[in-house]
Formats: sequence, C-alpha cells, structure tokens
Amino acid sequence: LFGLPDQAAHERVLLATDPATGLKAILAVHSTARGPAFGGCRLWHYDSEAAALNDALRLSQGMSLKNALTDLPFGGGKAVILKPQGDFDRPALFAAFGRAVQSLNGAYITAEDVGTTTADMRGLQAVTPFVSGIPRDGAFGGDPSPKTAWGVFVSIRAGVRLVLGRSSLDGVRVALQGLGAVGWHLAEFLHQAGARLIVADVDAAKVQRAAERFGATAVHVGEILAADVDVLAPCALGASLNTQTVPAVRAKLIAGAANNQLATTADGDALQARGICYLPDYLVNAGGIISVAREYRGEGEETAVMAEVSKIAERVEELLQRVQKADSTPARVADDWARSKLVKPA
Ligand code: NAI
Repeated sequence: LFGLPDQAAHERVLLATDPATGLKAILAVHSTARGPAFGGCRLWHYDSEAAALNDALRLSQGMSLKNALTDLPFGGGKAVILKPQGDFDRPALFAAFGRAVQSLNGAYITAEDVGTTTADMRGLQAVTPFVSGIPRDGAFGGDPSPKTAWGVFVSIRAGVRLVLGRSSLDGVRVALQGLGAVGWHLAEFLHQAGARLIVADVDAAKVQRAAERFGATAVHVGEILAADVDVLAPCALGASLNTQTVPAVRAKLIAGAANNQLATTADGDALQARGICYLPDYLVNAGGIISVAREYRGEGEETAVMAEVSKIAERVEELLQRVQKADSTPARVADDWARSKLVKPA
C-alpha cells in the first residue's frame, strides 16, 4: 500500500469513510503488545491521502515507542482525519469518526491531537467509550497539553544540567518553535524559571502576546531553528529537523513537544556529529499520554499525574547514561530501549 516501508510493521490500518459527513480518516494500530493502542486524533489538511497515511503510520509507531518507554499498559495507535474542504458539520464528522473508533472494539483509544479539542472528545463520548481527554465534573481529566508542556520543561531542565552543565534555567536562551497549546504552556514554565525566550509562530498574534507577556524576542518562522540559543524546543509539526535545517542549528540541546521531529534517523546522527544533543520527542512529550491514560483508567489525580510526568526527567538522565555507554545517539538508544519494552507488561 503506497509503497511505504513501515506498513508491514502495523497490526491494523483502517480507512474509514462516510460520504454523508465527508469523513475520511485513517486509524492506525501499530502495536497492541502492551495493551490497547492509545494515541490522539489529528484533524489536518493533507496534500494527499498518501501524506495522511504516512503521517498516521509514523505517528502511531511513535505512540508505541512512547507508551512503552513510559511503561504505560498501552500499545500505540493514532488517527488522522483529512480535514474536509470548506464548511463542514463538525459534530457530525466526529460522530462518524467515533463510529469508526467503536468498530475497532477497543483495540484503539483516541484523544486530542493537533486540530482536535476537548469538545470534540466530549462529542465522541456519546458514540464510543474508547476516548479520553475530556473534562469531567469533580474528577481529573481534560486537555493534556499543560501536562505535555510540563514534561518537556522538566526534560529541558534536566538536559540543561546534564548536557550544558548549568545548574539553573536562569538566563538560558531557549528558541521556541510554535506557541500553540503546548508551546504556550511551555513558554510560561520557562519564563517563570528565568529563561530568555526567542519565539516564532505562523500566527503573528501569538508571537505578539508572547512578546508582551514573556518579553520574548520574535524571529521569522524560517529563522527559529537556526537561532543563536542554548536550547531549541520544536513545538509545531513534525520533520522540522532534516537535511536542510540540521546544518544550521546552533543550539547545543534540542527538546520539544512536536512528534516526529527527526525526518530520518540519519538526521539524529547528523545532530550528534555536530555536537548537538537531541532528546527524543516521544520521551520528552509523554506528559499528555500519561495524563489521558490516567484519566481513562480512572486513576487521575492532579498531584499524582504531575509526579508521574516529572519522572520523565529521570528517564532523560537514564537515557543520557545509556548513550554514553553505548557510544550511540539518543534517538537510536531510545528506539532500542523502547522496542525492548514492546511486550506485554508483567
Ligand atoms: P497546536 O496546534 O495547538 O500548536 C501548534 C502551533 O504551531 C500553532 O500555534 C501553529 O500556529 C504553530 N505552527 C505551525 N507551523 C509552524 C511553523 N512552521 N513555524 C512556527 N509555528 C508553527 O498543537 P499542540 O497541541 O501545541 O502540539 C504541538 C506539537 O506537539 C504537535 O506536533 C503535537 O503532535 C505534539 N504533541 C502534543 C501533545 C499535546 O498534549 N497537545 C502531546 C504530545 C505531542
């Protein structure tokens, strides 16, 4: 199918269509070895069905590695909905998507991702129980992005200490690509810790707000990856680190929320060769899945979830120790470490 090499690695890929609502969605179940495949649903304009499929396959595989490395009792999956052209009935579209999720009988559990909201997830709940990321009365739940941002923040803090040898974030220069749900919360945490922010977003209003609120310096979206900073935090979309951009990166540490930051593993090798430490996306951005997984299991409680998210920093430390021993790159070591956990938890 579409000649994509990763195809064979997936357990199940469902193309769901519903002409009445305009739904065209791909639900990719990469692995259920650890439990039901858990991962968000993206609503996005794709140039082609092949591009959407490629995204779903890459993202769902990443979820398997993320959930395994985080020791969650879940496998990896992801859904993408190809955004219909023009006006569309959003509740009806999501109801149709919910029926597709339901048809997998719990093999896949969904939640928010880029382009989808807590309101969308609440709508899905009327159609299927296999959904999380919903604000609940008197109980833990809802938007995972603040938890994702906290995980990225503690990873940056650990990386600054272990890689840059600095004891605090005070005065550390951080370039932030993308000031969306995660990027904005991350900017708050970094600002409170005394970091100096350099920011870019295609949405000029967000950049303006960041300049006012955090005293952030704005740069053009085409310049953010090459900014003269200590830390680079990609928090927009995937494949930002590629053969075009890697040679220009000036940061010594990269840690951000965006999924699939490396276009290829070779780009991780190229970063290492340039003396740049790349902390793998699925390690540092696991705060969101920790949050929605706890909510789904009814184990949510704010302080317990935050404590679990904070443990991402310990895994960063362990990863860097493993990298030293293995004489390899963080991306390759994390992949091997996560794959070794792609088995049913004891
Ligand atoms: P979002 O859609 O709220 O924010 C993305 C931001 O990036 C937007 O402000 C957008 O204008 C901006 N942007 C898009 N293209 C850009 C470019 N070329 N240069 C600069 N800015 C650009 O999405 P969200 O939820 O903040 O997620 C960000 C990334 O983190 C995504 O890759 C997502 O998959 C990943 N992620 C999000 C989690 C969550 O809890 N929301 C959990 C784990 C990963």
